[in-house]
Amino acid sequence: GLKIATIGGGSSYTPELIEGFIKRYDELPVKDLYLVDIEEGKEKLDIVGNLAKRMIKNAGVNINVHLTLDRREAIKDADFVTTQFRVGLLDARIRDEKIPLKYDVIGQETTGPGGFAKAQRTIPVILDICKDIEELAPDAWLINFTNPSGIITETVLKHTKVKAIGLCNVPIGMVYGAAEIMGVDVNRVSIDFAGLNHLVWGTHVYLDGEDVTDKLIYSLGIGKSMSMKNVADIPWEPEFISSLGMYPCPYHRYYYLTDQMLEEIKKDAQTLGTRGEQVKKIEEELFKLYKDLDLNVKPPQLEKRGGAHYSDAACSLINSIYNDKKDIRVVNVKNNGTILDLPDDVVIETNAVIDKAGAHPLSIGHVPTKIRGLMQVVKAYEELTIEAGVNGNYDAALQALTVNPLVPSAMIAKKILDDIIEQNKYYLPQY
Ligand code: NAD
Ligand code: G6P
Ligand code: MN
Ligand code: MN
Repeated sequence: GLKIATIGGGSSYTPELIEGFIKRYDELPVKDLYLVDIEEGKEKLDIVGNLAKRMIKNAGVNINVHLTLDRREAIKDADFVTTQFRVGLLDARIRDEKIPLKYDVIGQETTGPGGFAKAQRTIPVILDICKDIEELAPDAWLINFTNPSGIITETVLKHTKVKAIGLCNVPIGMVYGAAEIMGVDVNRVSIDFAGLNHLVWGTHVYLDGEDVTDKLIYSLGIGKSMSMKNVADIPWEPEFISSLGMYPCPYHRYYYLTDQMLEEIKKDAQTLGTRGEQVKKIEEELFKLYKDLDLNVKPPQLEKRGGAHYSDAACSLINSIYNDKKDIRVVNVKNNGTILDLPDDVVIETNAVIDKAGAHPLSIGHVPTKIRGLMQVVKAYEELTIEAGVNGNYDAALQALTVNPLVPSAMIAKKILDDIIEQNKYYLPQY
């Protein structure tokens, strides 16, 4: 029978995943689902795990949910391992958001120094998980959702033998966003994506197969904005967006509108709290709901989190591999010549055909000059971040933060780096 292990099972997103497996049960008959967590997450795992069991019972499907702190038991002979864990929990995220702000730099969980810090904590853990997979389930697919998703996936592909595909809900969110802006059913919209995780551009947008990129760009320029719950929805300037001629992802605002976004983040930090602090409250509310024994479906309040459509992305990807579907999904995958302006061994985010052998990206060639430089510099930052995270290499870490476009100077990069290392000592065995 089909066995799935989900690392970080206590996540409040787990009901999304369960809903996705229930919906696809006829095609994707999951027999055993192991939700794995650590001691600190045990209470959350119990609450959300019991909701998962009620959802499955209510839907009348036959999935056995196992709640465990034993990762090796969960991984052994698994067909798919999915990851949705957060090393250091929300307190570490909040520190990541606050350190850069001290120096007037964007403090965000995946972009800039915050994403760097999250990567440094996560890399030792993902490498450990991969050792278990290599030993106990060498044929398993790793479906990585853990952020920074592109960087973590690239780490796995460069440094382990594990077959891995990275996921993000931004591309699917952009498809929904475009459909909403155009006022059409989402199934009529498709988009060609090129770039990196949280730095992906929609290069062409289609409605019923017809190129409507210019129409969408025009709408974006007259204030019809699209964003995620966790990214301030600042509208694009009409001149800027029409000169770009592409559909930027919400996270592009951190690079293209840095000053405005920094003001927004600073203002929020002083009033509502950082996003991590806000999420703490949302989570409390969610887990209160999850405890209610009468609840046996995914509650709509989960939409307050940034990860909406996670299950669409994850479960449909697993379904496409399992059933050898040869359909197209947007994934984080090894470049291998897809984008000629980037090295072969790095991970990109793009459309790919999915079959039982994995993800086969659709050829892109060279990208336009206007996006090439930003994409290359952020990728260089990511490669250095991986080098630093795997080897505890301070020189690589300092260069990573210095080349990151959101950090203004080498001096500030050093101050931020030293704060990050100091405040994360416990989670950075590699340094
Ligand atoms: P969360 O804080 O709820 O953490 C999920 C669980 O991970 C917790 O129950 C925690 O105890 C557990 N955990 C921590 N360290 C662990 C370890 N070493 N092994 C096993 N479990 C461990 O986090 P969340 O808000 O649900 O987010 C989970 C992850 O998914 C984060 O990394 C987040 O950035 C990521 N995420 C990704 C996307 C995407 O688009 N790729 C979207 C949303 C969230
Ligand atoms: C989406 C992203 C994720 C991100 C999450 C944050 O925007 O694709 O990668 O981590 O939402 O959501 P949260 O509710 O935790 O702030
Ligand atoms: Mn994402
Ligand atoms: Mn064109």
